Amino acid sequence: MTVTVPLHIQNLQKYKPGKSIAMVQKQFKLDRFIKLASNENPLGVCPKAIEGAQLKLDQAHIYPHPRATDLLERLSSFYGIDQEKIIITNGVDSLLAYILMAFTTEKDEVLTSEGSFIGIYVNTNKLGRPLQLVPLKNYAYDLDAIAARISNKTKVVYIANPNNPTGTMITRADFDAFMKKVPSQVLVILDEAYYEYAKHSSEFTHGFGMEYENVIVCRTFSKAYGMAGFRVGYGVSTAENIYEVLKVKLPFEPTVIAQYAAMKALDDTSFLQKTLDLNEKSMQFFQDNFAALGIQYVADSYANFYMMLFDGEVRALTFAEKCLEKGLILRYLDMFGFPEAVRINTGTMEENQIAFDIMKDVLQELA
Ligand SMILES: Cc1ncc(COP(=O)(O)O)c(C=O)c1O
Repeated sequence: MTVTVPLHIQNLQKYKPGKSIAMVQKQFKLDRFIKLASNENPLGVCPKAIEGAQLKLDQAHIYPHPRATDLLERLSSFYGIDQEKIIITNGVDSLLAYILMAFTTEKDEVLTSEGSFIGIYVNTNKLGRPLQLVPLKNYAYDLDAIAARISNKTKVVYIANPNNPTGTMITRADFDAFMKKVPSQVLVILDEAYYEYAKHSSEFTHGFGMEYENVIVCRTFSKAYGMAGFRVGYGVSTAENIYEVLKVKLPFEPTVIAQYAAMKALDDTSFLQKTLDLNEKSMQFFQDNFAALGIQYVADSYANFYMMLFDGEVRALTFAEKCLEKGLILRYLDMFGFPEAVRINTGTMEENQIAFDIMKDVLQELA
């Protein structure tokens, strides 16, 4: 007799990460690779985060406080939100799993869109919760269709704003109109992982300012603070909702080192500004160069990446593979539900230039 595996786990596919530089360097004999595949910060880690981490390296023999109290206090004063309305976890990915664990049984449906963040699909499937998907409309969330799909089986609705991998944004007005149609017993997860990039848009949702009792807003230090490897994310909702999620959170995350890194990162306004300035310049550079090369893409991106569109699956995959052979790592989006698309995130201006030189060569080869 072998140990049996539940059907919903048998049906899961292991997460296939974007290729790392170390992986491809082994495969291809090139001196330099540029990775614009995982929406990471091209300026590296926020320097104050490194200082913060160093403060606590010699405390690593001590378990972290389950509430991450020092970071909790800092986030609370930074945003002016009561501590009991905040939860801090190993990234948003981990938080999504906890929210689903806390609020759903195996019968409760999780409703979201096709072509959205893969983490919500994986977390829903691994817990064996039924996943309902509504198509995107013009590469953006179709909130009317999602509202129309809510049934008495729906327990959680997930919305990434801006959406990954399309970069599209829903406005505050759209969200408010949507919430009028959502029954109060349905929990809405509003994932603002790219908040810092989008917040300057006057129409952005700014989830933390909302008063809805059935919304949990998620943000992360992974992107604009360059801390994806530290794993720190946080959620804001009512004290009652947060209390429930805390019951299922693993007690000792995030590490003390990551907490202190995040605390200090919040003070690093100059790094954040540099990141945002570079991103703005890069997004403009991308737009100009997409036009020059005749590359189709989803234009309304409010994040740090664009989704490029090709004439079918073969062409998109070949394009991504040929770029890789020349030293440019991009994200082919079949696993996100777009076999005809490839995502590219912003790099340093030097990386951006090299990336477009490579893409130009590849397009000429494919012509
Ligand atoms: C929309 C969205 N949410 C969450 C995450 C994951 O964030 P974290 O690194 O905090 O787990 C990502 C990462 O790509 C994302 O795109």
